[in-house]
Amino acid sequence: MIGTVQFGLLAASIVLFVPMGMAGWHLSRNKMLFFSGILFITLFVGVHLTPYFPSVSDFVSSFSSVVLENRDSCISFLHEIVWDETPKPNRVDEFSANSSNYDFSWAWAKSTPVIACGFQRLGQIDASDLLNGSWVVVAGDSQARLFVLSLLNLVLDSTQMEMVEGDLFKRHSDYHIVIEEHGVKLDFIWAPYGMNLTDVLKKFKHDHRYPDVLVMGSGLWHMLHFTNASDYGLSLGAVRRLVESLLPVSPKFGTDGPVTGSVLVQTPHIFWLGMPTLINSMLNTEEKIEKMNQMVCDAYDKELNESKLLRQSGGPLILLDVGLLSRNCGLQCTVDGMHYNGVVYDAALQIMLNALLIESQQRI
Ligand SMILES: *[C@@H]1O[C@H](CO)[C@@H](O)[C@H](O)[C@H]1NC(C)=O
Ligand SMILES: *[C@@H]1O[C@H](CO)[C@@H](O)[C@H](O)[C@H]1NC(C)=O
Ligand SMILES: *[C@@H]1O[C@H](CO)[C@@H](O)[C@H](O)[C@H]1NC(C)=O
Ligand SMILES: *[C@@H]1O[C@H](CO)[C@@H](O)[C@H](O)[C@H]1NC(C)=O
Ligand SMILES: *[C@@H]1O[C@H](CO)[C@@H](O)[C@H](O)[C@H]1NC(C)=O
Repeated sequence: MIGTVQFGLLAASIVLFVPMGMAGWHLSRNKMLFFSGILFITLFVGVHLTPYFPSVSDFVSSFSSVVLENRDSCISFLHEIVWDETPKPNRVDEFSANSSNYDFSWAWAKSTPVIACGFQRLGQIDASDLLNGSWVVVAGDSQARLFVLSLLNLVLDSTQMEMVEGDLFKRHSDYHIVIEEHGVKLDFIWAPYGMNLTDVLKKFKHDHRYPDVLVMGSGLWHMLHFTNASDYGLSLGAVRRLVESLLPVSPKFGTDGPVTGSVLVQTPHIFWLGMPTLINSMLNTEEKIEKMNQMVCDAYDKELNESKLLRQSGGPLILLDVGLLSRNCGLQCTVDGMHYNGVVYDAALQIMLNALLIESQQRI
């Protein structure tokens, strides 16, 4: 029990004092305190209930120290998600159980680390508070556009959503919106190739203006039109070098604070939107079926890993693993084997929002 009490006190001091030290981030400071409050309650409940379940208790105490000492580890549990499908009440057709007959939903797994990390599914108000005053840029292909759609669906109400949907779905074009009431500026930049992403990054660098949150992704177009994994790897390497040149401190050189004289005082939060799992037999053209096969997909994944773009391979970007999310949602969640139901991108969005909460608590 002593251990539990100490853990409780440690938890209390971390969740109460760490956010109080935060200063000046665009992500709303008061909101951080509020979320920390929730986190604290989660930990409190966890700490006081677990002694009644001895095996869980052992696991929690070995685990919680890791989680609390290094909140970065919470980021690695963000993808522990379980999926559920339920038949739609009015449209059950026993002869054709296809995707339109099912509703899909997701939730974080009820595993110990997930509970200890206290992930929250943010609603409209919490999400807009968190992003209040932020400039969010999402750059990429149709996957990125679907991600933007999820974000807008979360922060806008349905009448506002109807107005933006048409514009957002203009093929192959940029989209820009300022949501006045929430003080959020959102840019979608059509950037299907790695080269296009480097152009986006160069522009930030040239203008000395950086978004608070940047989400990037690319691969499908390159796979279809170039089908050359090593060339894809080269473009990812270029993206990584540019990102590192933007960051005041690259992870390789430790985290002692911004390099003196750096133009960039605030570090943007940067995410990589992974490629979806492709269901080859469902792809809608012969060319796609032939070129976007499993072997090519594996080669592209390998290049992404070797490019060291992602945190998990020592790079700067946090992965939003659409590949994993879409694979687990399954065949029923896609009609063309490439673009998935909104629920997949909703999950990716909530993972990003929670990563933002974790990140902004870390960066004092
Ligand atoms: C899916 O179900 C709908 C009705 O529920 C039906 O109209 C449609 O043809 C089905 N599609 C396939 C591919 O089976
Ligand atoms: C956003 O922040 C501004 C001031 O920082 C405040 O006036 C406004 O009410 C906030 N909006 C929301 C939706 O929290
Ligand atoms: C993206 O890059 C490709 C290849 O480098 C180029 O042809 C295309 O014009 C670029 N598109 C945009 C929107 O910049
Ligand atoms: C693939 O890309 C690399 C690097 O751009 C290039 O050297 C190579 O010739 C390309 N391979 C094919 C088959 O086009
Ligand atoms: C990722 O790349 C590293 C070397 O850069 C290698 O050790 C590791 O096995 C790779 N992982 C996967 C899943 O390919």
